[in-house]
Amino acid sequence: MGAETERHYGALDQAAVESLAAELASVAPSAGLLSLRGELGAGKSTLARAFLRSLGVTGTVRSPTYTLVEPYDVMAPPGGPERVLHLDLYRLADPEELDYLGVRDEADHALFLVEWLSQAHGELTADLEIALAGCVDWPERRDLVCRASSPLGEAWLARLAVI
Ligand SMILES: Nc1ncnc2c1ncn2[C@@H]1O[C@H](COP(=O)(O)OP(=O)(O)O)[C@@H](O)[C@H]1O
Ligand SMILES: [Mg+2]
Repeated sequence: MGAETERHYGALDQAAVESLAAELASVAPSAGLLSLRGELGAGKSTLARAFLRSLGVTGTVRSPTYTLVEPYDVMAPPGGPERVLHLDLYRLADPEELDYLGVRDEADHALFLVEWLSQAHGELTADLEIALAGCVDWPERRDLVCRASSPLGEAWLARLAVI
Protein backbone atom coordinates (compact mmCIF):
# COMPACT_ATOMS: atom_id res chain seq x y z
CA MET A 1 0.00 0.00 0.00
CA GLY A 2 1.33 3.46 -0.91
CA ALA A 3 1.83 6.27 1.55
CA GLU A 4 -1.22 8.25 2.58
CA THR A 5 -1.24 11.56 0.74
CA GLU A 6 -4.52 13.19 1.67
CA ARG A 7 -6.72 13.72 4.69
CA HIS A 8 -10.06 15.52 4.96
CA TYR A 9 -11.45 17.36 7.96
CA GLY A 10 -15.06 18.47 7.88
CA ALA A 11 -16.76 21.42 9.60
CA LEU A 12 -13.98 22.42 12.01
CA ASP A 13 -14.71 25.39 14.25
CA GLN A 14 -11.87 27.82 14.97
CA ALA A 15 -10.74 25.95 18.10
CA ALA A 16 -10.52 22.73 16.09
CA VAL A 17 -8.53 24.45 13.33
CA GLU A 18 -6.18 25.79 16.01
CA SER A 19 -5.68 22.38 17.59
CA LEU A 20 -4.97 20.86 14.19
CA ALA A 21 -2.37 23.62 13.69
CA ALA A 22 -0.75 22.74 17.02
CA GLU A 23 -0.79 19.05 16.12
CA LEU A 24 0.87 19.82 12.78
CA ALA A 25 3.50 21.91 14.56
CA SER A 26 4.25 19.18 17.08
CA VAL A 27 5.24 16.74 14.32
CA ALA A 28 6.70 19.29 11.87
CA PRO A 29 10.07 18.67 10.22
CA SER A 30 12.94 21.11 10.81
CA ALA A 31 12.72 22.36 7.23
CA GLY A 32 10.05 22.18 4.58
CA LEU A 33 7.10 24.10 3.23
CA LEU A 34 3.47 24.09 4.33
CA SER A 35 1.23 25.86 1.86
CA LEU A 36 -1.96 27.42 3.26
CA ARG A 37 -4.62 27.83 0.61
CA GLY A 38 -8.03 29.44 0.61
CA GLU A 39 -9.86 32.66 -0.10
CA LEU A 40 -9.35 35.83 1.93
CA GLY A 41 -10.77 35.19 5.39
CA ALA A 42 -10.62 31.40 5.02
CA GLY A 43 -8.39 31.12 8.09
CA LYS A 44 -4.86 30.77 6.70
CA SER A 45 -3.33 33.32 9.06
CA THR A 46 -5.40 32.00 11.97
CA LEU A 47 -3.90 28.56 11.36
CA ALA A 48 -0.37 29.97 11.00
CA ARG A 49 -0.76 31.98 14.22
CA ALA A 50 -1.88 28.91 16.19
CA PHE A 51 1.01 26.93 14.70
CA LEU A 52 3.52 29.57 15.88
CA ARG A 53 1.91 29.99 19.30
CA SER A 54 2.13 26.27 19.92
CA LEU A 55 5.89 26.50 19.28
CA GLY A 56 6.27 29.07 22.03
CA VAL A 57 5.88 32.34 20.12
CA THR A 58 4.40 34.69 22.72
CA GLY A 59 4.77 38.14 21.17
CA THR A 60 2.59 39.61 18.46
CA VAL A 61 2.17 37.37 15.47
CA ARG A 62 1.97 40.03 12.82
CA SER A 63 0.37 39.28 9.50
CA PRO A 64 3.05 39.38 6.76
CA THR A 65 0.65 41.19 4.44
CA TYR A 66 3.06 44.05 3.71
CA THR A 67 6.45 42.70 4.84
CA LEU A 68 5.71 39.47 2.90
CA VAL A 69 7.79 37.50 5.40
CA GLU A 70 7.90 37.38 9.20
CA PRO A 71 10.65 35.20 10.73
CA TYR A 72 10.45 33.47 14.11
CA ASP A 73 13.00 31.58 16.19
CA VAL A 74 10.94 28.93 17.93
CA MET A 75 11.26 26.24 20.58
CA ALA A 76 10.90 23.01 18.73
CA PRO A 77 10.46 19.50 20.00
CA PRO A 78 13.48 17.30 19.07
CA GLY A 79 13.76 17.06 15.28
CA GLY A 80 11.33 19.92 14.83
CA PRO A 81 11.82 23.41 13.45
CA GLU A 82 14.03 25.99 15.17
CA ARG A 83 13.13 28.66 12.71
CA VAL A 84 9.77 29.32 11.07
CA LEU A 85 9.14 31.80 8.27
CA HIS A 86 5.56 32.97 7.83
CA LEU A 87 5.06 34.28 4.30
CA ASP A 88 2.09 35.95 2.64
CA LEU A 89 2.90 36.28 -1.05
CA TYR A 90 -0.38 37.94 -2.06
CA ARG A 91 1.49 41.15 -2.84
CA LEU A 92 4.55 39.53 -4.40
CA ALA A 93 4.86 41.34 -7.72
CA ASP A 94 7.50 39.07 -9.24
CA PRO A 95 8.98 35.74 -8.09
CA GLU A 96 12.42 37.39 -8.35
CA GLU A 97 11.49 39.42 -5.28
CA LEU A 98 12.01 36.21 -3.29
CA ASP A 99 15.76 36.76 -3.75
CA TYR A 100 15.60 40.19 -2.12
CA LEU A 101 13.57 38.80 0.75
CA GLY A 102 16.43 36.39 1.44
CA VAL A 103 14.08 33.45 1.90
CA ARG A 104 15.89 31.13 -0.49
CA ASP A 105 18.98 31.17 1.76
CA GLU A 106 16.81 29.91 4.61
CA ALA A 107 15.18 27.01 2.78
CA ASP A 108 17.57 24.36 4.14
CA HIS A 109 17.13 25.17 7.79
CA ALA A 110 13.72 26.77 8.22
CA LEU A 111 10.13 25.68 8.04
CA PHE A 112 8.01 27.81 5.72
CA LEU A 113 4.32 28.57 6.29
CA VAL A 114 3.16 30.16 3.07
CA GLU A 115 -0.07 31.93 2.14
CA TRP A 116 -0.64 32.52 -1.60
CA LEU A 117 2.20 30.20 -2.69
CA SER A 118 0.83 30.35 -6.26
CA GLN A 119 2.34 33.85 -6.49
CA ALA A 120 5.82 32.29 -6.36
CA HIS A 121 5.13 30.67 -9.74
CA GLY A 122 6.95 27.47 -8.88
CA GLU A 123 10.02 29.15 -7.36
CA LEU A 124 9.00 27.63 -4.02
CA THR A 125 7.26 24.27 -3.79
CA ALA A 126 5.04 22.74 -1.13
CA ASP A 127 5.69 19.57 0.85
CA LEU A 128 2.29 19.71 2.49
CA GLU A 129 -0.72 21.79 1.57
CA ILE A 130 -3.81 22.69 3.56
CA ALA A 131 -6.79 24.02 1.68
CA LEU A 132 -9.39 25.79 3.82
CA ALA A 133 -12.89 26.45 2.57
CA GLY A 134 -15.99 27.81 4.23
CA CYS A 135 -18.82 25.47 5.12
CA VAL A 136 -22.06 26.27 3.40
CA ASP A 137 -24.23 25.84 6.48
CA TRP A 138 -21.94 27.25 9.19
CA PRO A 139 -20.10 30.57 8.75
CA GLU A 140 -17.82 29.76 11.70
CA ARG A 141 -16.68 26.38 10.40
CA ARG A 142 -14.21 25.29 7.74
CA ASP A 143 -13.66 22.20 5.62
CA LEU A 144 -9.97 21.36 5.35
CA VAL A 145 -8.04 19.14 2.98
CA CYS A 146 -4.49 18.28 3.96
CA ARG A 147 -2.45 16.98 1.04
CA ALA A 148 1.16 15.80 0.87
CA SER A 149 3.09 16.62 -2.29
CA SER A 150 6.57 15.26 -1.50
CA PRO A 151 8.08 12.37 0.48
CA LEU A 152 8.82 14.86 3.27
CA GLY A 153 5.18 15.90 3.25
CA GLU A 154 4.02 12.28 3.28
CA ALA A 155 6.20 11.56 6.31
CA TRP A 156 4.84 14.69 8.04
CA LEU A 157 1.24 13.65 7.33
CA ALA A 158 1.95 10.13 8.57
CA ARG A 159 3.12 11.51 11.94
CA LEU A 160 -0.07 13.51 12.33
CA ALA A 161 -2.47 11.85 14.75
CA VAL A 162 -5.85 11.01 13.27
CA ILE A 163 -8.49 13.21 14.91
N1 LIG B 1 -13.35 27.71 11.83
C1 LIG B 1 -12.59 28.79 11.63
N2 LIG B 1 -11.30 28.64 11.30
C2 LIG B 1 -10.51 29.71 11.09
N3 LIG B 1 -10.91 31.01 11.20
C3 LIG B 1 -12.19 31.21 11.52
C4 LIG B 1 -13.08 30.13 11.75
N4 LIG B 1 -14.29 30.63 12.05
C5 LIG B 1 -14.17 31.94 12.01
N5 LIG B 1 -12.91 32.33 11.70
C6 LIG B 1 -12.47 33.73 11.58
O1 LIG B 1 -12.22 33.97 10.21
C7 LIG B 1 -11.15 34.92 10.08
C8 LIG B 1 -10.03 34.30 9.24
O2 LIG B 1 -9.09 35.31 8.99
P1 LIG B 1 -7.61 35.00 8.54
O3 LIG B 1 -7.05 33.87 9.33
O4 LIG B 1 -6.86 36.29 8.57
O5 LIG B 1 -7.85 34.52 7.02
P2 LIG B 1 -6.85 34.45 5.80
O6 LIG B 1 -5.45 34.53 6.31
O7 LIG B 1 -7.16 33.15 5.14
O8 LIG B 1 -7.20 35.61 4.92
C9 LIG B 1 -10.68 35.26 11.48
O9 LIG B 1 -11.32 36.44 11.88
C10 LIG B 1 -11.18 34.07 12.30
O10 LIG B 1 -11.44 34.43 13.65
MG1 LIG C 1 -3.82 35.83 5.80
